Amino acid sequence: MAADIGLVGLGTMGAALALNIAEKGFDVAVFNRTTSVTEAFAAEAGELAPRITPCETLEALVAALKTPRAIILMVPAGAPVDEMIAKLTPLLATDDLIIDCGNANFHDTVRRAAAAAERGSPYLGVGVSGGEEGARHGPAIMGGGPREAWDRVAPIFEAIAAKFGSSPCAGWMGPDGAGHFVKTVHNGIEYADMEMIAEVYGIMRDGLGMTPAQVADVFDRWNGGPLKSYLVEITGIVARAMDPKTGKPMLEVIKDSAGQKGTGRWTAIEALHLGAPDPAIEAAVAARNLSSRVGERAEGARIFDLPPLPVPAEGMIDKLEAALLAGKIACYAQGFGLLAAASKEFGWPLPMGGIARVWRAGCIIRSAMLDDMAQAMESGEAVNLMFAAQFAERLKRTHQGLREVVAAGALARIPTPALAAGLAYFDTMHTARGTANLLQAQRDFFGAHGFERVDAEGAHHGPWGGHEQ
Ligand SMILES: NC(=O)c1ccc[n+]([C@@H]2O[C@H](COP(=O)([O-])OP(=O)(O)OC[C@H]3O[C@@H](n4cnc5c(N)ncnc54)[C@H](OP(=O)(O)O)[C@@H]3O)[C@@H](O)[C@H]2O)c1
Repeated sequence: MAADIGLVGLGTMGAALALNIAEKGFDVAVFNRTTSVTEAFAAEAGELAPRITPCETLEALVAALKTPRAIILMVPAGAPVDEMIAKLTPLLATDDLIIDCGNANFHDTVRRAAAAAERGSPYLGVGVSGGEEGARHGPAIMGGGPREAWDRVAPIFEAIAAKFGSSPCAGWMGPDGAGHFVKTVHNGIEYADMEMIAEVYGIMRDGLGMTPAQVADVFDRWNGGPLKSYLVEITGIVARAMDPKTGKPMLEVIKDSAGQKGTGRWTAIEALHLGAPDPAIEAAVAARNLSSRVGERAEGARIFDLPPLPVPAEGMIDKLEAALLAGKIACYAQGFGLLAAASKEFGWPLPMGGIARVWRAGCIIRSAMLDDMAQAMESGEAVNLMFAAQFAERLKRTHQGLREVVAAGALARIPTPALAAGLAYFDTMHTARGTANLLQAQRDFFGAHGFERVDAEGAHHGPWGGHEQ
């Protein structure tokens, strides 16, 4: 019997996704560049094997599918996707559908969708979040491309997606690159969320002298409250884990040097391009980059000899919880601001509430708060998530904690760049009269750029006579 869908690339994500598809009752034909991987995958499929058709060639894969065909690509982003499209296209009929489920740069997806459209063919760029576990048992899925093409495969994506209650965390985000753009912003938020948690851990470890087990206890407790989220949950688990080799806590044997793949950086770049700044995400990307300069930091430690100082312990754990809550709201406000700017710029009607709903389960940033965000974004009640009534209320309760944590970190020489960026964003956005008047005066002074006055229309120049450069 012909398979419902094809899948190319049986790596970590592809293999998990194929098993998930088969488990939900769809027949899936699979192909991998290295045939032995396909064979091993089929051999280990167990009771799902009858739903899986292993194919040694792309021709066999194409022949194994129901028409019009749909083929998922789960290969590394970039050149491998273009190569695979080039190999598949001559084998496919015009109405066959290629679906890139990898972490593509949305600009590439826009280009590939346009090339497919020129051939009269549909193309989908679909963001899949949740790592291997999510792909196997229920990821969050963000689709982009022609709506009719999405509708063709939506039953499969909705079946394999995570569920929030009974609602599948899969949805159509908009045309061409919209799905991959939303996934990119998701990953940017993920960077900032993780970084803020790591900064709070830094205060606990270096400012309060807490052991990993004590850190784990606090995160476990927080996961029962308003911070309840996948990232808080796994932080408790990793902080408690012991190294089988040395018997030490895992956190003590892991190097403090993190890499960054494309998506966090892409979010920061697009935010700057679109004039919709995401300073907390930018700070998180920068923090990862700087973390990798291990030797340079050791040199800095030697030259300045400024080890961390203790932070005042009184009430600090509660302040840290408040700081994470406030920082997180500021970070999501920035992420949704970027999505809104992209909606306008690219003519995508990005469904703000729908995005928050898709993120409620399955993905790395899933959290209790996202359900409330979905409601706030859906109601369209505020231009900025921070101003939506229930988030404004939460910020009123928590911003002082964020302020005290950032201040304590600064005085104790413990860096908190993402939390500080979140705080600065909050403080900027509740300041009705800022300081750009001085910038405008400076610009007019050296460049005669002109400025607007508070008390008159039109462009004006200052009385800088005799002082201009
Ligand atoms: N891992 C995650 O948590 C995660 C989460 C969300 C999204 N993603 C995205 O999902 C995609 C796949 O990631 P992964 O973690 O599953 O990667 P992976 O484990 O490294 O697997 C890559 C797969 O692509 C195949 N491949 C590599 N280069 C190829 C080429 N030039 N032509 C054809 N096939 C090629 C490999 O085949 P061979 O066996 O022949 O090498 C392998 O099956 C990436 O875009 C990634 O960013 C990953």
